[in-house]
Amino acid sequence: NIVPVILSGGSGTRLWPLSREAYPKQFLPLTGEHTMLQATWNRVARLTASGPIVVANQEHRFMVAEQLREVGAKPQGILLEPVARNTAPAIAVAAMHAMAEGEDPLLLVLPSDHVLKNEEAFHIAVGVAARAADERGTLVTFGIVPARAETGYGYIKASGSGESMPVERFVEKPNSTTAEAYLAEGGYFWNSGMFLFRASHYLAELERLHPEMHAACREALSSAEHDSDFVRLELDAFSACPADSIDYAVMERSSGVEVVPLDAGWSDLGSWSALWEVSDQDANGNAHRGDVLAIDCRNTYAYGQRLIAMVGLEDVVVVETDDAIMVGHRDQVQKVKDVVGQLKQGG
Ligand code: GDD
Ligand code: MG
Repeated sequence: NIVPVILSGGSGTRLWPLSREAYPKQFLPLTGEHTMLQATWNRVARLTASGPIVVANQEHRFMVAEQLREVGAKPQGILLEPVARNTAPAIAVAAMHAMAEGEDPLLLVLPSDHVLKNEEAFHIAVGVAARAADERGTLVTFGIVPARAETGYGYIKASGSGESMPVERFVEKPNSTTAEAYLAEGGYFWNSGMFLFRASHYLAELERLHPEMHAACREALSSAEHDSDFVRLELDAFSACPADSIDYAVMERSSGVEVVPLDAGWSDLGSWSALWEVSDQDANGNAHRGDVLAIDCRNTYAYGQRLIAMVGLEDVVVVETDDAIMVGHRDQVQKVKDVVGQLKQGG
């Protein structure tokens, strides 16, 4: 059996002004009727007999519980982090929680903010990864054929070919020169940020590579308070845990890693432009959500509650919320994180 572990702790500053600390993107219905968190569960519900383990910030607990309930997901636990310590500890406490009853399931680790268009292809890849993790005891990642020299992703060099390949090298977020060299060289995949492995195997690698992180997670979970589905990790122990991502802490440094190629229309909704790309567009490349009137526009994206009227615009993104309006060029909307930075500084 496969237990989905859904990571729901990101703050999503690149989709400001919609995504906020109090309301990050995984809790928003960005591409359809369901929120990103709900879509993540719906995508895997058929693959598993067990409910998900969700790891989230404690501030978001009611949103998480309510959104899971709405789609009929019965969590095996909602682990609440009093502070964010990045993905390596989040996955560690989930793995320990999954093993609490003496079991040692395969874990399918899923970020809660991805879009996948082809579920069938995804399900097939999960089957391949589960066999690899089961038969060879490897840590499996899902690899996407890179479309550009993106520096916001991890890169995986596979050795050989086939439906699952040993990883020769894993480089988390290379600089642009390095990323361009990888693209030119070929044989590289983007790390999708989704993983599959046996709980005990991840924990053994983490303990070997970062014993202090492993110990802090063990302590935070064993002293946790349980309150229905919520498991509140203990503040002092979890605060003392070093922060690091699974990519830097484990995947880059572990030897038994395999990659399963995934061609399923994957996208990390890392910016408004990425959202435009995956949205349904009209014949002129315009994609809108809400009440939008666009005349003589091309390749625009608009999102809002009030009526948005756009005339004669090209490559422009407009996002309207109760307290802010963002207008930006489609090629530069990653810079909204600088807006968030400046607003924070300002008070
Ligand atoms: N519970 C919890 N706690 N979840 C977290 C935390 C945390 O402290 N930090 C991040 N997450 C969640 C985010 O909500 C997201 O769903 C997922 O973990 C990945 O975190 P990101 O912060 O979005 O990582 P990234 O995009 O910079 O990089 C990762 O994903 C890329 C693909 O999207 C890496 O795995 C890269 O290698 C990969 O290419
Ligand atoms: Mg991400």
